[in-house]
Amino acid sequence: MVDLPKIANVVVVGGGVIGLSVARSLALRGLRDVLVIERGSLGAESSFAAAGMLAPQAEADRADKFFELCRQSRDLYPAFAASLRDETGIDVELETTGTLYLAFTEEDVNELEERYEWQSRAGLAIEKLSAEAARQLEPAISENVRTALRFSLDMQVENRRLVRALAVANETLGVGIVTETAVESIKLDRGCVAGVKTSGGLVTTDTVVMAGGAWTSLITVSEQTTADKNQSDCNTPDKAFRSVRIEPVRGQMLSFTTAPQIARHVIYSPRGYIVPRSDNRLLAGSTTEHVGFAKQVTDEGVRSITAAAVEISPQIASLPLTESWAGLRPRAPDNLPVLGPCAEIAGVFYATGHYRNGILLAPITGELIAQAIVDKVVAPALNEFSPDRFSVVNVT
Ligand code: GLY
Repeated sequence: MVDLPKIANVVVVGGGVIGLSVARSLALRGLRDVLVIERGSLGAESSFAAAGMLAPQAEADRADKFFELCRQSRDLYPAFAASLRDETGIDVELETTGTLYLAFTEEDVNELEERYEWQSRAGLAIEKLSAEAARQLEPAISENVRTALRFSLDMQVENRRLVRALAVANETLGVGIVTETAVESIKLDRGCVAGVKTSGGLVTTDTVVMAGGAWTSLITVSEQTTADKNQSDCNTPDKAFRSVRIEPVRGQMLSFTTAPQIARHVIYSPRGYIVPRSDNRLLAGSTTEHVGFAKQVTDEGVRSITAAAVEISPQIASLPLTESWAGLRPRAPDNLPVLGPCAEIAGVFYATGHYRNGILLAPITGELIAQAIVDKVVAPALNEFSPDRFSVVNVT
């Protein structure tokens, strides 16, 4: 960690996996004086709360641009994990056993059948399993399973180790990291980014990456001078910019202790999921709650997550519940990530709104946002996720 500098080449707002991945990619492309500013401690919010599932196929209902982005990012993970290990010595515990998805009811069976149909037609790796075949793979699953799908290419990663690895990688590459410092506003000079105002003072910069997750929308934008905007090099119409509204969506998580581990795969049902970890933890999730910034674990959350986990494996009912926590997923109004340059303010880039897929999308977000900044090339894969899809509002 460093003291807040007065000037930076690029300021990345947010030190979760997205901000850290963008900063690392910028530094790997040779950019100097990259600065990450984090309001709390690194990765302490949704990056820490996540379950680390890299499971685009298990969760997808159709082959759209979002699925494609998720699949591409998953497929970057083996190289991403290997590079982080080379850069830092930290093993992010990439687990490639795959994902099982279980059906218990008629409705579940139909849901799985539809997923099987479109994914097999699209040539994706997917297997349909009888209940017996699924139990041969995972003997601890319930007798009530009717059918299952196996996604052999889906993976999981230890997300808290990933935060550590990204932080060390950034420090090794010379990226400045400042924690416990809130970015309050982006300062404009005649419509161009001039800096960021933080709780620790002003940092001059011409490029800002908005990677603040659920806190993105708390950052305001304001003009710092009244100079004649005709002198501006920036193509900014009457102090207007895209209003990117990111809402926090609470997800509660539980961790049971089990030795020996009762499962090898990440196992889903339509009502929840369990994630076996190598340190004898068995994670179970989650809830989807629109309760603002309230991060509490609730009795109802514990009850519903436990019920979904026990439906997957009745053995979980007798495991000690050793930890619980909640995180705030950053959600845009259309559930899609917000990625790429802001059309109205030269120098503002968004990398936020990853909602349920921040860990999964970290490698591709880092790559494509760094490419947009350094090479000034916005990849076609980002078109669908541009901040331009939101309406224009006036700068306050
Ligand atoms: N990606 C899993 C969740 O958000 O619960």
